Amino acid sequence: MTVIAHISDLHTSKSDFDEEVFMQAASEINNLKPDMIVLTGDLTGHGYYVEFEQAKKYLEMFEAPLFVVPGNHDARNLGYQTFEELIGERSWKLSVGEDLTVIGLDSSSPDEDRGHIGGPQHMWLEHQLDECVINENFSIVALHHHVISIPQTGRERNVLSDAGDILKTLTTHEVDLILSGHKHVPNIWRINETIVVNAGSLCSTKLRGNIRNSYNVYNITDDEIEIFLNNVGGEKLLFGKYPRNEL
Ligand SMILES: [Fe+2]
Ligand SMILES: [Fe+2]
Repeated sequence: MTVIAHISDLHTSKSDFDEEVFMQAASEINNLKPDMIVLTGDLTGHGYYVEFEQAKKYLEMFEAPLFVVPGNHDARNLGYQTFEELIGERSWKLSVGEDLTVIGLDSSSPDEDRGHIGGPQHMWLEHQLDECVINENFSIVALHHHVISIPQTGRERNVLSDAGDILKTLTTHEVDLILSGHKHVPNIWRINETIVVNAGSLCSTKLRGNIRNSYNVYNITDDEIEIFLNNVGGEKLLFGKYPRNEL
């Protein structure tokens, strides 16, 4: 079984970051001993250098390998450059063994909140997914912005501006999981054979209504995918259970 923890939207800053919640979440996730952690953006509140330094310090507390894509907040104030300096590449491809591929996309634009993948990155994505199909890989694509509207988030604003084309590429290549953040609301949609999962905010105080800080856990076996919604310091709920796609 492969276990992936999906975290998002830490928002390190003077005002919106809850250190106590982060420490609780880090302890829970380390106890789970996941094979990897995927962080879908908004590490920082404003993309400031000092916030990235703060984020890096906290992220080093995770024991599992961590893979990160930037969010709209990380692209502010030259944060897209700082991300590369302190965190790593803004888009990447990771092969785990012979069966699993995780692709990270940069959906941010400097000093804009909108989500956008754009032509060159879309072409790169298609090429990577072609290889996943040929190799019959279980494929996961992670990006900050949502590819389809999320309930309980009011007026739609920042869904990917090229969501239709990206969704077509992802679903026609039968990507198994799409992981996003941004809205601070956990959710699952299923589009064709693809499971589209949003993570809530791990430890930011920017929460809607009574939605709590949370993270998702994916247990992937040869037969099925189990998705758990883990409220930090609270209930761990089975969020969804799906048979693996026939290859
Ligand atoms: Fe956020
Ligand atoms: Fe965001």
